Amino acid sequence: MSEKIIEVSGLQKSYKEKHILKDVNFTIDKGSIFALLGSNGAGKTTIIKILSTLLKPDGGSAIINGFDVATEGNNVRECISLTGQFVAVDEVLTGRENLTLIGQLKRLPNLKSTVNEWLSFSRLEDEANRKVSTYSGGMRRRLDIAMSLMGKPDVLFLDEPTTGLDPQNRIAMWDLVKDLAKTGTTVFLTTQYLEEAEYLADNIAILHGGKIIAEGTPKDLKEIMPERGVRLIFDSELKANSAIKLLTENGVSADRIEQNLPSLEDVFLTLIDEKKERNQHEKI
Ligand SMILES: Nc1ncnc2c1ncn2[C@@H]1O[C@H](COP(=O)(O)OP(=O)(O)O)[C@@H](O)[C@H]1O
Ligand SMILES: [Mg+2]
Repeated sequence: MSEKIIEVSGLQKSYKEKHILKDVNFTIDKGSIFALLGSNGAGKTTIIKILSTLLKPDGGSAIINGFDVATEGNNVRECISLTGQFVAVDEVLTGRENLTLIGQLKRLPNLKSTVNEWLSFSRLEDEANRKVSTYSGGMRRRLDIAMSLMGKPDVLFLDEPTTGLDPQNRIAMWDLVKDLAKTGTTVFLTTQYLEEAEYLADNIAILHGGKIIAEGTPKDLKEIMPERGVRLIFDSELKANSAIKLLTENGVSADRIEQNLPSLEDVFLTLIDEKKERNQHEKI
């Protein structure tokens, strides 16, 4: 059994009459990448706020590194770092100055070389001496993460690290997250994208309707996913209509082959259907 660094049990949270988290349960292995997958409004940020001690839960418990987030907040805060959905870097400073400032606050030794290491880790060496106001969204977010990591947290929370990024910056962020896990930091990230969770995470939990409706490795989850097929796209309807026949008989090749990935909505529908079926069996 691997060591658990986060244990969440029966977590509940309402905003006035809105019951957002009903009964949330999951555990996270030390040193792993965990993805909390859910649609917009599912309650992902609410869970991150509770785990990072910014918000009190109404019920249930969350333990990080053996400390209860509700009653031992100081201990929890010492071993975590949070990079929110909205970036918190100082615009008028350069990337290097932002990192140096955080390093001074944390009283880090060998500050100059430490700052250089983090600039290199976040692939910002070439932009280090430019003001952050000139950075792209992706650069800002990478700087934000480097700032969060300077104190060497045991757990890093990344709330939707790639939302709003263009494909190039999204891939740079994916590389960064993969590198992060190699440093031994446990990464807790949220995402609305199934493919992102599948690519990055060791374990995925799907949050829907206030509960974790599925949990496991990407491989485990694939087994409960809607079936995947390969879609062949032709440039004329005639070709498409006779595709299978022509392919086998006359060797017509596809103009483009596209993998048909199920969306998160497809996953919900499949899981809900399965649940209905199970309930019906139980009634009979
Ligand atoms: N402070 C708040 N007061 C009232 N409702 C809130 C508050 N914060 C979040 N919500 C609502 O709770 C739900 C979950 O929000 P959130 O945790 O931000 O979801 P996610 O991060 O998955 O998009 C949403 O419907 C949101 O509008
Ligand atoms: Mg959110």
